[in-house]
Amino acid sequence: MNKEISAIRARLGKKLCILAHHYQADDVVRHADILGDSLELARHIKGLEAQHIVFCGVHFMAETAAILARPEQKVHIPDLGASCVMANMVPAPLAEEVLARLNRGGARIIPLTYVNSSAAVKAVCGNHGGSVCTSANAPTMLRWALRQGDGVLFLPDANLGRNTARILGLDENRIERLDIRGQGRFVPAADPSRQLYLWPGLCAVHAKFHPGQISAIRAEDPHALIYVHPECDPEVVGMADGAGSTTYLIKAVAEAPSGSTVYVGTEFSLVNRLAARHPDKTIRPLRTALCSNMAKVTEANLSRMLQELGTAQPVRVEEHIARPARLALERMLTACS
Ligand code: 13P
Ligand code: SF4
Repeated sequence: MNKEISAIRARLGKKLCILAHHYQADDVVRHADILGDSLELARHIKGLEAQHIVFCGVHFMAETAAILARPEQKVHIPDLGASCVMANMVPAPLAEEVLARLNRGGARIIPLTYVNSSAAVKAVCGNHGGSVCTSANAPTMLRWALRQGDGVLFLPDANLGRNTARILGLDENRIERLDIRGQGRFVPAADPSRQLYLWPGLCAVHAKFHPGQISAIRAEDPHALIYVHPECDPEVVGMADGAGSTTYLIKAVAEAPSGSTVYVGTEFSLVNRLAARHPDKTIRPLRTALCSNMAKVTEANLSRMLQELGTAQPVRVEEHIARPARLALERMLTACS
């Protein structure tokens, strides 16, 4: 497997670039030219010269790459079925409908979507003066969005929205978690006393971490350090020693003193790799939580995809969606440059 991948890489040289997200398994990561969090990977796309970009991650990440890549470049994902449970919680027509309901009294609510969303949802944001954020730049982007209108609709991750609002010191009473059952029938027109509306989405992987797990660790080992991803429940984030993107977590573990015990609340493939990388520390998962979609990309299907590169169907985003989605992404890249 390894030999086949190496042979194709040698043959294609700079025409091929393999990107991988930190949640990919080790046997995929070892083939990556670029490894990063969502923000870093999105930033790299524009500078890539490769004709073939292979994205080892979930579908919204490959779509983001396809939106930002030049027309002659082709973006591939080893398993087209690798979706993101959270991204699937926000259908674009419903996002459009909810935004219209919030704005029906004449307010201008700015949509800000977490990058974990479809291209069509990013397009809704682009079309309505909004943008995109990642877990690494959510405070910068929420501050940006609050300046653009009368309030912000943050989607789809309610936890990231609330955790970011806390970092900015927003008043809890001015935040509303929307009830979107029944095609948004319960969504009220925007109220001037509200500043932030949260779409009620979540990550099923990070929802596995609970305050009780942290209390138990603190009782057993008061010196242990605990770092979590901001997709976790705000109570979990509040009890941890720090929270941030996957790159933040990697740095926090690297900077922990030698001999320390560090618990990490994020996807297990990353925690496992950190444990192997830092044998001088005890690195443990807050609990074992695997993203089954990230795990759909394997060394075997990466190899198969590379062998079929000439005929494989690339990830495509229709131009009427790609154009406004690109606008939303470029607003983010400019605001965070
Ligand atoms: P990052 O933004 O930290 O890369 O995380 C993406 C993600 O999907 C986390 O679940
Ligand atoms: Fe989506 Fe959660 Fe998997 Fe990240 S870990 S890709 S948010 S389901």
